[in-house]
Amino acid sequence: MALREVKVCLLGESGVGKSSIVQRFVHDTFKPALESTIGASFMSKTLTVDEKTYKYQIWDTAGQEKYRALAPMYYRGAAAAVIVYDVTNESSFGVLKDWIKELQRHGPQEIVIAIAGNKCDLADLREVQYKDALAYAEQTNAIFVETSAKNATNVSEMFEAICRKLPDE
Ligand code: GTP
Ligand code: MG
Repeated sequence: MALREVKVCLLGESGVGKSSIVQRFVHDTFKPALESTIGASFMSKTLTVDEKTYKYQIWDTAGQEKYRALAPMYYRGAAAAVIVYDVTNESSFGVLKDWIKELQRHGPQEIVIAIAGNKCDLADLREVQYKDALAYAEQTNAIFVETSAKNATNVSEMFEAICRKLPDE
């Protein structure tokens, strides 16, 4: 059976949990004190969805502002982008909207976009409401999930949903 390679990049403000989501997806682990990413890091992971096998080529970008100009190198030619915000940090949701706009203007035409509201385990600290993010995602035709890299909530489910939404080759 053919293996479909899927280039995906993760974008979003520093500290929202992009690297933690990738760690959870690829190694099924979580580190409470992860170092901030420098430039970008690369990992791959194979998974089977609906009897088809996909090999994710994952570019985990650095969220710090000084690396912002590098992002086009990672979303160029990508089949999918995961834009992450932190449900306990309203400003990270604003940064997410900027990334969506940038992808709509400069990203690949058929890119599948997934919005991940991460750290949903921190219910008491929530600043971004589920329904508000869902309404925004529907308006932008993006997949939407709330995730917890810490508790493994919806992480693999999100990558599976992306596979299902990829256009036919
Ligand atoms: P940059 O590399 O700087 O862009 O940050 P990042 O988006 O990769 O964030 P990172 O994964 O390094 O996570 C930042 C901090 O948030 C770390 O201390 C993580 O342990 C914590 N964190 C990440 N995901 C979760 C989560 O789902 N729940 C909780 N409670 N903490 C999380
Ligand atoms: Mg990181």
